[in-house]
Amino acid sequence: MVDNSRFISFEGIDFSGKTTQIDLLTNQLEQMGEHVLIIREPGGTKISERIRDILLDINHDEMTDLCEIFLYSAARNQLINDKIINELETGNFVIADRFVDSTTAYQGFGRRIPMDLIRDINRAATGGLLPGLTFILDINPDQVLDRKKQRNLEIDRLESTGDDFYERIHKGYHKIAELDPIRVKLIDATESINQIKTKIWEFVSQKMNFKY
Ligand code: TMP
Repeated sequence: MVDNSRFISFEGIDFSGKTTQIDLLTNQLEQMGEHVLIIREPGGTKISERIRDILLDINHDEMTDLCEIFLYSAARNQLINDKIINELETGNFVIADRFVDSTTAYQGFGRRIPMDLIRDINRAATGGLLPGLTFILDINPDQVLDRKKQRNLEIDRLESTGDDFYERIHKGYHKIAELDPIRVKLIDATESINQIKTKIWEFVSQKMNFKY
């Protein structure tokens, strides 16, 4: 099995601030002379980007839950084999904007696909590869709604129906962190960008034995 210590994933519901923190961490690592590949799920390879288009097409609202999970997992398997393993073997960092915990949170807790099936599908898709560190940027769905309203952004179907889909995902992420505390770090996403950046850097430098 490939060494996963340079594999870091970011998780959280949309608008948790993942992209900002991914860019900041990448800059810090690059300043230390490290090479970093950022990947975004679903996507990151020719085939996985096409799967992304199918998944995120708003006209596909008849998609079944199982079709959805198989597509996310198919895109992930392709990405691991096309890119992630090579990069890690070369000694580069891989920073993932979402990985397997998104499937557990969204399809497992959100869509309520049974957890034993989620585990089997995740394992088949990843061959057991997990990030060495995962940051969940923790924000509750009401705070996301506030952020969206402040920026005059559209509220999507699930958010507006009062469905507790995002609430289940939010709680699911907490459960994921609770079950795997060494790998998964829950970070309060309502703190300032700089406070969050500092916390993340502490975990990364501790894990990598960086002196700073
Ligand atoms: P994003 O690129 O804006 O994060 O959008 C990806 C969407 O896909 C986001 O709403 C979360 C969702 N998703 C899942 O439901 N399951 C998964 O396994 C992954 C990777 C993403």
